[in-house]
Amino acid sequence: SPSGLLAGRRVVVTAGPTREPIDPVRYITNHSSGKMGYAIAAAAAAAGASVVLVSGPVSLAVPPGVDVRPVCTAQEMLEASSRAVDEGCDIFVATAAVADYRPEAFVSQKIKKSSDSMNLSLVRNPDTLATIAARTDAPFTVGFAAETRDVARYATDKMMRKKLKMIVANDVSVPGLGFSSDRNAVTVFWPEGTESIGPDSKQAIAARLVALIADHSSRIDQV
Ligand code: PMT
Repeated sequence: SPSGLLAGRRVVVTAGPTREPIDPVRYITNHSSGKMGYAIAAAAAAAGASVVLVSGPVSLAVPPGVDVRPVCTAQEMLEASSRAVDEGCDIFVATAAVADYRPEAFVSQKIKKSSDSMNLSLVRNPDTLATIAARTDAPFTVGFAAETRDVARYATDKMMRKKLKMIVANDVSVPGLGFSSDRNAVTVFWPEGTESIGPDSKQAIAARLVALIADHSSRIDQV
């Protein structure tokens, strides 16, 4: 049983998609359901942690004992995550599928169709995971990577670049796994090792991930 593995630890998890408004009726988003992140928040709470869940728009029940902070855009996700880490955080897990770009300007009236084509200008969004990992008081920071090819190479590269303690790669090209589904298969990388988990339910994968995170973050504390 995972009970007590994270007793006394403060965990912040990001989950779900972000939604980037174009005009009052339209937005840019992706297929994330939030299931992976909610399963990690639930598993961390079951392991005794106090958990803040910074959640994009999803339709999932709040796991028992978890403090949910709803957000919409990538900018709001960064603000809410930074605030949660300021409040005290030992472990930060970024499962959210954040929109990399947002419309340059929000058009306050519904855009009318006037010509056969239209251009939408996009600008880069802030990176919550990289921002948290770069803090001088950075928690033990875990990233996710959704890749469709060369999963190991891209994931370990991202771990080094963003200064992460651990990265969880899912191959989102496999049908029935990853985005939206109830199941996933992941490969976890840390600087000295790797472990593959699944295919299995997102709950089972979350329980194993929480055990790995508990093990590796406590080793760091002893240094
Ligand atoms: O929500 P589900 O339907 O259950 O699906 C789960 C999932 C497939 C979305 C999840 O397992 C997953 O892989 N999440 C990360 C998806 C992703 O967008 O990866 P990325 O390679 O774009 O981003 C890498 C890491 O940086 C992620 O930890 C992401 O949360 C973080 N990031 C990225 C961009 C950004 N602006 N801010 C971030 O924090």
